[in-house]
Amino acid sequence: MTTDAVTVRVPGKINLGLFVGPLREDGYHELSTVFHAVSLFDHVTVQPADDWSVHVTGPFADRVPTDGSNLAMVAARTLAARRQRRATVPPVRIDIDKQIPVAGGMAGGSADAAAALVACRELWTLDHIENELLETMAASLGSDVPFLLHGGTAIGSGRGEQITPVLARGELHWVLWAGEGLTLSTPAVYVELDRLREERGTEVGAPEPPGDLLTALRRMDTDAVAATLHNDLQEAAVSLHPILAEVLEAGQELGARGGVVSGSGPTVAFLVGSQAQAIDLSVGLAANGPTGEILRAMGPVPGTQLVHRVGQG
Ligand code: C5P
Repeated sequence: MTTDAVTVRVPGKINLGLFVGPLREDGYHELSTVFHAVSLFDHVTVQPADDWSVHVTGPFADRVPTDGSNLAMVAARTLAARRQRRATVPPVRIDIDKQIPVAGGMAGGSADAAAALVACRELWTLDHIENELLETMAASLGSDVPFLLHGGTAIGSGRGEQITPVLARGELHWVLWAGEGLTLSTPAVYVELDRLREERGTEVGAPEPPGDLLTALRRMDTDAVAATLHNDLQEAAVSLHPILAEVLEAGQELGARGGVVSGSGPTVAFLVGSQAQAIDLSVGLAANGPTGEILRAMGPVPGTQLVHRVGQG
């Protein structure tokens, strides 16, 4: 049987803890982060075509590049280059149903890259490409890509690409605020953090995994998780987009247990105690908070998952 199309579902992520160490010689910062995959999903479908192309639908579609710079396309071509040592593969058409905010700190582009790797491996029946090799390719595409293959809740170390799963029971409920048209470039946020640290003469040591957050996750104590949410990049993101301070304050006033900027932002994640509280907070934020897209999600959820394969006998 030949396969005509493969669809893979992939979640977005937030960072429950993000501790940024010194700038390394390779231009990256040493990190200790706790990634958490949440139930906002992109769907990536690949099928053989005459030419390479990317097509995007969904609420954030107009902000996604559809040329060779699209990370899903880069991922598919990276995998194809491996394959070509054995035999050529046909180009693919990539369709992305985009529900994860774009350039928002939720790793939406990295998610599509992870999904494209898994989908193309399936489409091209590259059974000899083991998960370990796929993870190496994922890390070469971006620091967050390996986590999106795994999902769940996990510690990221190195530049974020080395993944260790974290024991976490139960569910966490989230309300996400994504500013309409508000984006941040990840490198710019890291540069701003370095600038702020330099200005203050802050000494930066090696980042450590946050013991109190990990204990709170093991117990799944929502209030303890809320109290230990932390992001070293938050101050830099707020410095570049001061409206984020208002968003964080509005969420707290409207009943969130805790709030944190996700990754390099500008998406803000609010933790609440239940789905009912998530509905209350999202209604409150929509009515009284700074203008933005309000989304609800729960976590943890799995990483890339094959959801559909269409074949012809
Ligand atoms: O790995 P990724 O391509 O997502 O990283 C984008 C940029 O973010 C890097 O080029 C770097 O400027 C910054 N970054 C960093 N330290 C990390 C991860 C990313 O400085 N650990």
